[in-house]
Amino acid sequence: MRLLLTGGSVFCGGGFHPLEIAVSEGRIVSVSPRLPRDGASVVELNHGLVVPGFVDVHVHLREPGFSYKETVASGTAAAAAGGYTALCAMPNLNPVPDGLPHLRAELDAIERDAAVHVYPYGAVTRGEKGESLSDMAALAPYVPGFSDDGRGVQSAAMMRRAMALAKKLDRPIVAHCEDESLLTPGWCVHDGAFARRHGLPGNDPASEWRQVERDIRLVRETGCRYHVCHISTKESVALIRAAKAEGLPVTCETGPHYLCLCDEDLEDDGRFRMNPPIRSTADRDALVEGLLDGTVDCIATDHAPHAAEEKAKGLRGSLNGVVGLECAFPVLYTELVKTGKVPLEVILNALCVNPRKIFRLPGGQIAEGQPADLTVLDLDHAGIVDPAGFRSLGRATPFAGRRVDAAVSMTLVDGAIVFPEGVEPSPHGVIGIVRGCDRPKGGTP
Ligand code: DOR
Repeated sequence: MRLLLTGGSVFCGGGFHPLEIAVSEGRIVSVSPRLPRDGASVVELNHGLVVPGFVDVHVHLREPGFSYKETVASGTAAAAAGGYTALCAMPNLNPVPDGLPHLRAELDAIERDAAVHVYPYGAVTRGEKGESLSDMAALAPYVPGFSDDGRGVQSAAMMRRAMALAKKLDRPIVAHCEDESLLTPGWCVHDGAFARRHGLPGNDPASEWRQVERDIRLVRETGCRYHVCHISTKESVALIRAAKAEGLPVTCETGPHYLCLCDEDLEDDGRFRMNPPIRSTADRDALVEGLLDGTVDCIATDHAPHAAEEKAKGLRGSLNGVVGLECAFPVLYTELVKTGKVPLEVILNALCVNPRKIFRLPGGQIAEGQPADLTVLDLDHAGIVDPAGFRSLGRATPFAGRRVDAAVSMTLVDGAIVFPEGVEPSPHGVIGIVRGCDRPKGGTP
């Protein structure tokens, strides 16, 4: 079935242009101001913005091992609803993908149930235990990189060996940086004003940036491509900025909650508990500055769903992790773009362009011959973040109840409409996107 997207404004060449897009057999076949209809199913975009599908390089899909928190089916449905067409999935699973047989279990679930592209990371160390390297050479052809996310690799010698091998295999190390020797037992928030006011054990920002600093030294030695996960501190921003200026192959991501919130926003509720924690205003502002000057390459949600009872024990007793896929763009647009802090193009580069460059994933351009992985955005849509409507099994987000001024209207993966669900194109039919994520009228002949 040929699809023709019309009435939208298309993000290409760094700007927006009134173009039509024809899609056939999973690919973009033409992009032009006016295209022939000949039997195509026409999708009327109603002034929506068409962008390359978002990529989230930091997502926990929890399968295999923890399907009571999330599954590949529920997590990728959430991704589609959030405008994501590709995800990189973290390996803190059971079994941990530290060799081919274990990776196979994860790949089987992905092949069976994924609604969007999923690229699973391999683990750096066996069982993510930090004691011996995973079977990196066997995993390399199937993974975009190696990560022990959820834990820092504590031993510098182990990290050096991992980087040397990753360099040979031409894959990045994707590092969760956390020096456990600098952690206060039982920490539950950033070690700052909020922690002191409420008598809560705090997480020292040095536990993150000291390990970033160590790893940058190892990158200098090994030449390994190195991507830092969920940076949250101003010191990490400064270290990564300097590493880039030196020409080292270092990149990083941060999350919407670190860019838009600070510890003054915390409430004693599990939906504000994650690792690393939301930090000070100075950290938040440094991250925004880093995004603006290109130090922060990607925005990744660290979508980390848990069961309701695991998040119901306040700041002290809940597990670390919040969900992010379904509200990331509306929140980023509302908090950063509408307020004039960050241009929309910068956000889009961090969501669709840079992740693909860093992890060498297909797509990222709206041009003839490219995969038809596309997202349609409505920037004129007032709504409230309501976790009760999430496809994810996880509901804990610090943005619950926030007013947002944008929505994802439609997501296409390989030319198929994966969000909203159940829209069937028909020849000569017109699919009208109404507004935001309201269900479009489908396939009217
Ligand atoms: O908050 C977090 N949750 N941070 C991590 O690093 C791991 C994640 C999880 O797996 O729940």
